[in-house]
Amino acid sequence: MAKVSGLHRVGVRVPDLAAACDFYERVWSMEPVIAIAGERGFRSQGENHADLMLAAGDTAGLDHLGLAVASEADLHALLERVGRAGHAVLSAPGQGVLAGDRLVAAVADADGNRVELIVPSEPSGPRATRSKRHLGHAVLWTPQVQAQEAFYALIGFSVSDRTHMGMSFLRCNTDHHSVALAASRNGRKGLQHMAFDIGGVDEVMREYARLRAAGAECIWGVGRHGPGNNVFAYFRDPAGLVVEYYGDMERVESVEVTQARFWGPEHKGDIWGIAGAPPMQFRD
Ligand SMILES: [Fe+2]
Repeated sequence: MAKVSGLHRVGVRVPDLAAACDFYERVWSMEPVIAIAGERGFRSQGENHADLMLAAGDTAGLDHLGLAVASEADLHALLERVGRAGHAVLSAPGQGVLAGDRLVAAVADADGNRVELIVPSEPSGPRATRSKRHLGHAVLWTPQVQAQEAFYALIGFSVSDRTHMGMSFLRCNTDHHSVALAASRNGRKGLQHMAFDIGGVDEVMREYARLRAAGAECIWGVGRHGPGNNVFAYFRDPAGLVVEYYGDMERVESVEVTQARFWGPEHKGDIWGIAGAPPMQFRD
């Protein structure tokens, strides 16, 4: 059955494009590879395409989520499935404008977020080499976790874990999660944070030290999450967006539906117990 194969990129809007570009190039160590009107694309060191797009906008937030699809046939099958379930198809498949995109279509998820389904020009960088940096996951606020779970299930995601705080961790390949949902009681939608896989514990610790020295503001971590088991450090970019570095995430051999694990109130977000409570940016 056709399904998405991974997270290809995240597109965000920022009020100060120059400040964001400086942060993601100089502090976050990404390479600027795309410059078009009002937009800039950045590539992680382990990727073969821009996995972060920045667009000038009035307020900071999600522009789109880009998910990889293996083939044109799969893309058509996914669009038909999404349309039949009553979700809006925002654009039919067309040739990609950005380098690395062969075909792109766009749909709206249950919250109306723009989800681009992308057949890449060539497959993404090797995931087997875990020290290679790449975009790893994006977490979305949602006032309707069940409806969002149902949308992402339509395009091939399975639930790995859920928590008592209303988080739902979704996988579409061997990564424990590529997308996660964070329940909002106050109607929040859009991006809660985006995260870059940089390998293992040593890479996270070294990067933590380097980012602190570079003046980046660490808002949570270092710690180790329960769901996904990844070692994490969260930072705030100049637009106020939360961006995470992590390593050592759990791999799940089967992407098929299995019984999702549940993390109760005994779980505080960091199984080491040194990071403290989640930051105010994660409180709804
Ligand atoms: Fe995360």
